[in-house]
Amino acid sequence: MKWFRKEDRDWAEEVYGKICLKMRAEAERVGTDIPYIPENGRYKDMGKEGIHWWINGFWPGMLWQMYHATGEEIYKNTARGVEKRLDEALNHYSGLDHDVGFMWLHASVADYRLTGDEEAKERGLKAAGVLASRYNPAGRYISAWNGNRPGHMIIDCLMNLPLLYWASEQTGDPRFTLVAENHTDTALKYIVRPDGSCNHIVVMDPLTGEYLDNPGGQGYGQGSSWSRGQAWAVYGFALAYKYTGKPEYLDASKRVAHYFLANAALTDYVPLLDFRAPEEPVYYDTTAGVIAACGLILLTELVDSLEKNLYGQGAVRLLRAIEEKHCSWKTEEDGIVDFGSAKYHREADREVPIIYGDYFFIEGILRMTDRDFLIW
Ligand code: GLY
Repeated sequence: MKWFRKEDRDWAEEVYGKICLKMRAEAERVGTDIPYIPENGRYKDMGKEGIHWWINGFWPGMLWQMYHATGEEIYKNTARGVEKRLDEALNHYSGLDHDVGFMWLHASVADYRLTGDEEAKERGLKAAGVLASRYNPAGRYISAWNGNRPGHMIIDCLMNLPLLYWASEQTGDPRFTLVAENHTDTALKYIVRPDGSCNHIVVMDPLTGEYLDNPGGQGYGQGSSWSRGQAWAVYGFALAYKYTGKPEYLDASKRVAHYFLANAALTDYVPLLDFRAPEEPVYYDTTAGVIAACGLILLTELVDSLEKNLYGQGAVRLLRAIEEKHCSWKTEEDGIVDFGSAKYHREADREVPIIYGDYFFIEGILRMTDRDFLIW
C-alpha cells in the first residue's frame, strides 16, 4: 500500500476510470501509428517522419501500462505492433542516440517484463549495447547526441540508464551498471548545481574528459532552469538510488525535488517552462509537472516514513492541478494533457498536448491506485 490520503486515492480512482475510456478509444483509433502532438484533435503517424525519434516509445509504453492495468488484449497487440515497427530504427545503428532507453524500455523491456517474450528481451539487450557503446571513458559520461557533438552530456540521460541496470540483471555482466553509475556520478558533479537547480547540457572535451561549458538547452538560456530538466533530475536520481543504493543519488533527487516544489508552488503547481526565465512572456510546461510527480511518487517509496508526506503531497498537488486545469477527457479527441512544451524558443510545440505528458500522467495515476508497473 502506498502513501496517499484516502481522498486523493479516491480522486485517482475516478481519474483512472476516465483514462480507461480515453485510452480504449485512442488505441482503437491510433493503432500502431506513432503519436506526438494532435492536430485538430487527431494524431498523425510520426513514425513516417522519423523512426529514430526519442518520443517513439511513449505510445507503446502507455499501451503496456494499460495492458498491465486492465489485461485487455487490444493494448498488448497494439504495443507489439509498434514494437515491431521500431525494429527499423534498432537495425539502423547510425540513427540511434542515447535515447534508446526511452524507446526500448517502453517498447520491449516492458513487453519482456510482462510477457516473457524472448524476442523483446533481445531487442532490449541490443538497445542496452548501443547505450553502453556511447560511454566516454575519459570523461566518464554517455554521449547524448549525434551530429558531431561527442562531448555533450545532458540531464535527460538519467532516464535512459535503467536500461543498463536491467541489462546487467539479465546478463550477469556488471559493465552496464558501471557505465550507468559513472555517468550518474559525472551528472551529479557537473549538472546539478548547489542550489538544487540543474543545467540541461554540459560539454566535455571528448579526448581528455575535461569540463568545457554549460550552454543553454531547451530552456530559456545558459544558467536558466528548464523545468523538464529539473523533473528528469528528480526522477532520474531517485531511480539511480533505487538501483544502486548510493545515498548521494537520493540526496540529489531530494535536493532537486525541493527546488522543483518551491518553484511549482508559485504557479499553483502547473510549472513554468523555465523556473529562471524573464517574467514575461509566461510559458507553462505540464510535462515537467507530471514527470516530477512520478519522481516524487518514487521518492515516497525510498525515504523514511516521516519524509513521505512532503513528496507524496507534492506529487498529488501537481497531478491534481494539471488534471483540473489542463486535461481533456473527450474520447473523440486524441491527447489528454494540454499545455506541454517541448522547448522554450519554439512556438510550434509550446503549450500543446504532447505524448510524453500523457505517458507520465497515466503512470502517476496508475501508481497512485496500486496498478503499478515500473517501466524504468
Ligand atoms: N529528452 C528530450 C526532452 O526532454 O525534451
